[in-house]
Amino acid sequence: MAGLLSNLRNTLIAGFVLALVVFVIFIVMGGYSLSAILGGEQFWGFVVRWLHVVFGILWIGLLYYFNVVQMPMMPKIPDDQKPAVSKFIAPEALWYFRWAAMGTMVLGVLLALINRYFLDAMTLGATQGFVSAQTTLIGIGMWLGLIMWFNVWFVIWPNQQRALNIDNKFPDLSKDQKAGHARTAMLFSRTNFMLSIPMLFCMVGGGINANLG
Ligand code: HEM
Repeated sequence: MAGLLSNLRNTLIAGFVLALVVFVIFIVMGGYSLSAILGGEQFWGFVVRWLHVVFGILWIGLLYYFNVVQMPMMPKIPDDQKPAVSKFIAPEALWYFRWAAMGTMVLGVLLALINRYFLDAMTLGATQGFVSAQTTLIGIGMWLGLIMWFNVWFVIWPNQQRALNIDNKFPDLSKDQKAGHARTAMLFSRTNFMLSIPMLFCMVGGGINANLG
């Protein structure tokens, strides 16, 4: 067991195997028929939804780590120890951060397409001929998620590349220029932190409706 847990890839595989075990139990208990799995759009919708949330947690988990742990701690770290974070931890975290954002976005759009409301949601229910609160809610969530994805790829990442001189691509920037890029990245990261709260409200908003019955 310790051998399995000391290897990240094997631990991840074990997680998926455990999920499969849970799924088999669910099938045996009559929760799902095999014919529904083989032919079912509903089934693939479920798989995409599940992976969407797994990727979403990796993305937003790292966003929360940056905002709650790394940014507040940076000024308290002695200067000679700062490179441990800026040269090693942050570039690695940023790699997972931006690709998790990409995976979450692609799976989220795919989910809306499978659920057949992509256009209705993106127009916040306007194309439906009547205003559906449910479609408007997931539409707002999708717009917030897309804005956050855009911020990650086109604002936070390019600015962090320059601020931290990742892969030595920007070796000639002055200290002031780097500080400017770091500040822009910080402000947009904070923006995403703020937007994540209403975004998640919208994502899980289906539950509000269900409870109203
Ligand atoms: C570009 C960004 C995103 C898009 C386009 C998107 C799209 C969607 C869609 C279409 C649904 C299905 C809603 C339904 O019909 O019930 C959904 C659900 C969900 N999303 Fe996202 N999403 C995005 C970002 C995120 C992020 C960052 C998270 C963070 C964890 C997240 C977490 C969830 C959760 C928890 C659900 C509900 C699953 C359930 O109730 O079964 N989404 N999303």
